[in-house]
Amino acid sequence: MDIGGSGIKGAPVDLERGELADERYKVLTPHPATPEAVADCVKDVVDHFGWTGPVGATFPGVVTGGITRTAANVDKHWIGTDAAALLTDRVGGAAGGCPVTLLNDADAAGLAEMRFGAGRDRTGTVIVLTFGTGIGSAVFTNGRLIPNTELGHLELHGHDAEKRASTKAKEDEELNWQQWAHRVQKYLAHVEMLLSPALFVIGGGVSRKAEKFLPLIEGIRAEIVPARLQNNAGIVGAAMAAQAARTGAPPTAEPPAADGSPAGNGAGPAARTRPAEGPSPADRAPSAAVDSPVGWPDAGR
Ligand code: BGC
Repeated sequence: MDIGGSGIKGAPVDLERGELADERYKVLTPHPATPEAVADCVKDVVDHFGWTGPVGATFPGVVTGGITRTAANVDKHWIGTDAAALLTDRVGGAAGGCPVTLLNDADAAGLAEMRFGAGRDRTGTVIVLTFGTGIGSAVFTNGRLIPNTELGHLELHGHDAEKRASTKAKEDEELNWQQWAHRVQKYLAHVEMLLSPALFVIGGGVSRKAEKFLPLIEGIRAEIVPARLQNNAGIVGAAMAAQAARTGAPPTAEPPAADGSPAGNGAGPAARTRPAEGPSPADRAPSAAVDSPVGWPDAGR
């Protein structure tokens, strides 16, 4: 399942091939998109397929231990909701079928790209960025995800970066490709300054038009490639997370072993501890612009 601002989409997934096993089914996101209203839509999609197995679902905000923590571009009632429990209850009902595993949307897209798409077999630090209403991020080191990185809310020249460089910003401000690519370049330079990835994978709907803006981006040391799974990355990654949850392991780029044991280098049980409460990056007000560190390569900053 992919829970987004405009649609709630789902399909059974073939996890051997990283492809949808049936035609995607979509219902329009209700307004307001409260947890209760969205849970009803998730149930509609699951019921459409007569599905009774595990369900993975993406959410456009921070998710820890099944609880949705931030809601930058969605209804604020999600903040602090045990959304995994709500969805499991709604979808599985009393029979307790369909346990629902919930994760951040960019993390899901990133997992799918790392196992089946543009990040496949790539080691070192890889950052998958999704450009849409906001900017989502998924950071991997040797195929292992660091969840909920929220790099879209980095501060860039005194602004929340996604307010300047998302595709929504491009549309709202009627930026041409050159203007928007310049903003994306500044953003990538900032992320590169912090994390020095070997590879950026650029996802979101705009990845279909990569030839229009990737050639305009200069001065970034990391390789930059478009995502390959495009529209279906979130759904495939959500299914990967649901599969991993059955083994009690955090999802990784690698498939689980044939005996169902966790993938990768002996990943431990998924973290259930709750982080200390405090303002999330999405809720923090941007402060004054900060000078770039001295000596960093200038990529149009
Ligand atoms: C949210 C992220 C999300 C991204 C893309 C941001 O506003 O804070 O959690 O991944 O949008 O939907």
